Amino acid sequence: MVVVANRLPFDLKKQPDGSTIARQAPGGLVTALAPILSRREGAWIGWAGDADVELDPTTTDGLTLHPLPLSADEISAYYEGFSNGTLWPLYHDAIADPEYHRHWWDAYRRVNRRFAEKSAEVAADGAVVWIHDYQLLLVPAMLRELRPDVRIGFFQHIPFPPVELYMRLPWRKEIIAGMLGADLIGFQVSGAVRNFARLARTLVGADVSGSSLSYADRNIRVGAFPISIDAKAQSELAVRPEVTEAAAKLRSDLGNPRKLILGVDRLDYTKGINVRLRAFGELLAERDPAVDGATMIQIATPSRERLGSYVRTRENIERQVGAINGDYGRIGHPAVSYLHQSFPRDELAAFYVAADVMAVTPLRDGMNLVAKEYIACRTDGDGVLLLSEFTGAAGELRQSLLVNPYDTNGVKETLRTALQMPHQEQKKRMRFLRRQVRTHDVDAWAKTFLSTLEDTKDPVAAALKRLPAEVKSAVRSLADEQYLLVGTDFDGVLSPLVEDPAAARPLPAAIDALRTLAVLPNTSVAVISGRSLDQLRLLVGDAGPVHLVGSHGAEDAGISGLVHHAAHTGPTPTTLTDDEQHLKDRLDRAVADLAEKYPTIRLEHKPTGIAVHLRGTTPEVETAVAQEITRGMAEWDGVRVLPGKKVLELSVVTADKGRALAGLRSALGGPRTIFLGDDVTDEHAFGVLQPGDVGVKVGPGETAAKLRISDPRQVADLLTALAAARQTHKFPLQ
Ligand code: ADP
Ligand code: G6P
Repeated sequence: MVVVANRLPFDLKKQPDGSTIARQAPGGLVTALAPILSRREGAWIGWAGDADVELDPTTTDGLTLHPLPLSADEISAYYEGFSNGTLWPLYHDAIADPEYHRHWWDAYRRVNRRFAEKSAEVAADGAVVWIHDYQLLLVPAMLRELRPDVRIGFFQHIPFPPVELYMRLPWRKEIIAGMLGADLIGFQVSGAVRNFARLARTLVGADVSGSSLSYADRNIRVGAFPISIDAKAQSELAVRPEVTEAAAKLRSDLGNPRKLILGVDRLDYTKGINVRLRAFGELLAERDPAVDGATMIQIATPSRERLGSYVRTRENIERQVGAINGDYGRIGHPAVSYLHQSFPRDELAAFYVAADVMAVTPLRDGMNLVAKEYIACRTDGDGVLLLSEFTGAAGELRQSLLVNPYDTNGVKETLRTALQMPHQEQKKRMRFLRRQVRTHDVDAWAKTFLSTLEDTKDPVAAALKRLPAEVKSAVRSLADEQYLLVGTDFDGVLSPLVEDPAAARPLPAAIDALRTLAVLPNTSVAVISGRSLDQLRLLVGDAGPVHLVGSHGAEDAGISGLVHHAAHTGPTPTTLTDDEQHLKDRLDRAVADLAEKYPTIRLEHKPTGIAVHLRGTTPEVETAVAQEITRGMAEWDGVRVLPGKKVLELSVVTADKGRALAGLRSALGGPRTIFLGDDVTDEHAFGVLQPGDVGVKVGPGETAAKLRISDPRQVADLLTALAAARQTHKFPLQ
């Protein structure tokens, strides 16, 4: 594997005597990647952190560092300019004003090309090349051009901006196209994935389907992969005697304060250091009892120090600290201890161990690893994390105290709550937080990203890998079947079951595969559902030649739509006879009364009947409603009741999925058939299958089907594998 990032894990400095000294590079990217790479063999291409440093590659423990030199001009235009003067502020909600300069863009392109060339030179045949972050957005496409044989992953550590903001960028198309050179593009959160996919469609015309994009005749996967830390190592560090001793000394040096608040950040305007200082300062000014005997430590690592916006941020913070200390400090006991320094990891861990409250208040942050490091260090289960809603970490660390950093009163109130939180509650919250960080560590992150990248090589092989052996062999046997009918239920099969039936959505991969199957020669596809045809049309979308059958077969979109190349006659509307209509009206009234009596049930009106949904009710209500229906409406002449999973289907016409499937099958001349279903109502369909046909039950429960898979995800796998298998099979043309 080759990792490509703007920075190497170490800043390397050449000494006058020719030797080099190394120091861990700043920032979360290096914190996360360094432990992963130390456990794998590979190469890391990056800048050594100083101008014009020409160094040879060095190898330690199987990891080779390839320094890529940058000239002073390149640092100014590519790194400080386009990367940190244009992209960084633009991608962080334009907290500082992004600047757009054409010569910065030219330098960015030139340096990205050099990174691509170096990667092409270092990567072995068919290697995995993993490119990181906003400084290298053009490298994926540039590298693909040079080395089409390598597998390219791209991960963006910082946020992806809202569409309206991104659209300001004069080079917006080039950047999206550059990223699309990768096989897999990862972001921290799913909102970023959505923003990116929308832009890829509107700006360069990529075809978006779920988590797949197709662009320039290639498929690209996109997804959210929230990054993390080496939680185990961080926790182990926190319990080392020298660290706990240092933590105790820290507190005693501060005069054993009642409460210690900590902030740890790169000195960056995105981090909201001013927000927490303001909140603390105001509480002190108000002599709030919560801050009585409290003190704060703010560590701010020097960062990007030549940029004007960073110089100003530093000045403002230092002015704020000075003012607070001037007003509330005492000799030997400042209200805020401010350290504009970088610390070794063990010393930093001592700060985390010593702190009662960790204040993390960025205005925007891709993830924020500091929050996770604090949690990993709290092996005693104490401590309170105050966390900005606008960090990627907030999506995972729900038991922290979440704040809106733009709401000063809210931050003050939450800081007060944090300082007064009883130990029992601290421990309760910390238990959840620690479990999250322990189970979602950086190793899990890397494994998920790299295995998804591996799957992009051959999605069919990946799908097959996840299927049980007997299902795989059924797929193989259906691949070269002369004529095949693929029938499937909708809920619980194409779409995961959800509490509210209106919120059900099919898995994009399953729908994609159905569509692919439906346009193949000698292959017909039908979705047979209990839902009304109208709903099914909405849910399955523009399904092309996928045939839709609603209300258990009572509503059929017209058989001619199923036969390839035949003119589509359009749907046959369901018409009820006068008697049926009369009966339906009577049913409508009766179930309305039922819904009034049991308000937790949900009704779904269909042209030929009504579905009474019981999901979300209590078992008592379920039994009572079932009893009322079986003793009442079910006894009426002409009414049929089909019990399903947490649903009772009342219908005034005689229809079930068995009749529907058998009808389709005979209209098509009796092709071999595979049917997938999960519900009791699908058993009718399994019941009409002939020898040689394939029935697949999805999920647990008794069934007449011969095969079983576990969930809709596996349905998508089965259909994907079947579509690919039939696609590659040579069929005689009709
Ligand atoms: P960013 O990547 O934007 O800097 P993160 O919170 O994700 O923000 O990561 C910051 C990383 O830098 C963490 O691993 C943290 O431990 C480290 N760090 C922050 N301040 C210091 C410091 N003063 N000395 C050493 N490491 C620091
Ligand atoms: C953030 C970025 C990284 C960057 C780091 C430090 O974590 O996502 O790409 O390396 O900040 O910034 P610097 O400009 O010093 O590399």
